This record gives sequence, structure tokens and C-alpha cells, in this order.
Amino acid sequence: MDLNRYHFTSIDSTNSWAKHHAHEFPLNELTLITTDEQTAGRGRFNRQWLSPPKQNLYATFCFFLDKIRPDIHNISQVMAIAASKTLESFGFQPMIKWPNDILITNKKIGGILTEITSVASHLCIIVGIGINVNMPIETLRLINQPATSLIVTSGIPFEIGDILSKLQSQFMHDLELFLNEGFFPFIPYYRQHFFINSGASAKIHDGNATLEGVFHMINNDGSLSIQLADGSIKKCLAGELN
Ligand code: BTN
Repeated sequence: MDLNRYHFTSIDSTNSWAKHHAHEFPLNELTLITTDEQTAGRGRFNRQWLSPPKQNLYATFCFFLDKIRPDIHNISQVMAIAASKTLESFGFQPMIKWPNDILITNKKIGGILTEITSVASHLCIIVGIGINVNMPIETLRLINQPATSLIVTSGIPFEIGDILSKLQSQFMHDLELFLNEGFFPFIPYYRQHFFINSGASAKIHDGNATLEGVFHMINNDGSLSIQLADGSIKKCLAGELN
């Protein structure tokens, strides 16, 4: 797939910009939007994503499908895997917290926000990723969950462009595999890098309800099964693990 590229010094959110301009993107290309700063960076569940200038990677990848496919929600996990492989290539040991948070030293370093919009008779899949690269500890403290950055975990500053070019080539490769073969080829890597807390306790929020249990397994479709107090197994397709 060819790449259609946009870069900004400052915009509200690369995902929001993508949604508003999706009708301008070439249908047969992968569009990549990056920015130095986001003034209204968005996370999952309507959270803010802290996006100060030139400290971190803020990117949105967009591609088109002619019709919905039942496994499209796995695209966030495919991106998490591409990000994890990217960070491994720089010497880090990332883990993936179900479904698609990237952790280093048990703290969040990257997150993914996937959105879908329709453009004429096509669907535009918008996959946004933020990775904390050179964000100092003082700024990380403003985030209301344990968070880290590459500089804080390693003591070394990184070029955002170096991380981006590796991520871009990894994601282009993995996207093609996903579109052709689905999520199945990604399962071994996902299981090997799956983050589970020491007690294997699992609390899943899906926006309204909370389910509590013990981690059971990652299924072949990327969903998470937990065992509830009454012994039954519950399969969770979406949500957030705590
Ligand atoms: C999350 O873990 O809550 C998801 C965070 C996603 C952040 C990225 S940064 C680039 C893109 N633009 C946004 O506004 N959000 C995503």
C-alpha cells in the first residue's frame, strides 16, 4: 500500500483531523497523520491524552474497507503489537495490557484509540497511537494513572522520527497480514507479551458495567476470558482491564 502523508506542528487531535478529512484521503492508500503537539488529544473512554509539543509520538493511520469485517476491532491489538515490536527493536521489553495498552515497567507508555467513520460507500478505519517518548517525570505525574516514557525508563532521549519510521514500516507489514489472514497469526506474540498482574485478578470496565474475576485466558479472537466468583467463565470482547 502507498503512503499518503500529513504532518502538522499543532492540531487539536490527529484522530479528529482524520475524521473530518477522511473524504479527501485516497481509497487505496494508507494515510498517516502526525503532529508535534495536540491541543485536544483524546484517549479511550473520553479521557484526555496529554500531548505537549515535540515530546512524544502522536500519529493516526487510516485505511479503507469496502465493508465491515467481524474482526475489525482487532486492529487496535494489531497496532499494539506493532508498537510493542517497535519498542523491542530499541531495546525495551514492553508488555500489552488487554486490549491495547502498551506498558514498560508495568506503567503505561502508549495507548491506541480506534474510530470508524463512513465515507460514501466505504468505511475509513482510523487508528490513533500515542507513545510517550521524551516526556519528563514532572509531566508524567500529571497523568492520572501510572505512566512512563522512553526517556524516564532508559535515561536516554530518543528521536521521535526514528520511533515513527520503525512503527510505520512494522504497522504497514502487520496491517497487510491482518487484512489477508485476520488476527490468528498475531495470537502467539500477543499471548507472550500479555500483561497480567501478580494475583491474576481481573476487573473489566466496559463503560457502564464492571466485572470482577480471575484471568482465565486470551482467546484466539483476541478476547479475554475471566472466571467469575461463581466459577463461570465470561468472555469479554471490549473494555478496560484494571
Ligand atoms: C488511550 O490509551 O486512552 C488511547 C490514547 C490514544 C492517543 C492518540 S495520540 C494520537 C491520536 N490522536 C488522539 O487524539 N488520540 C490518539
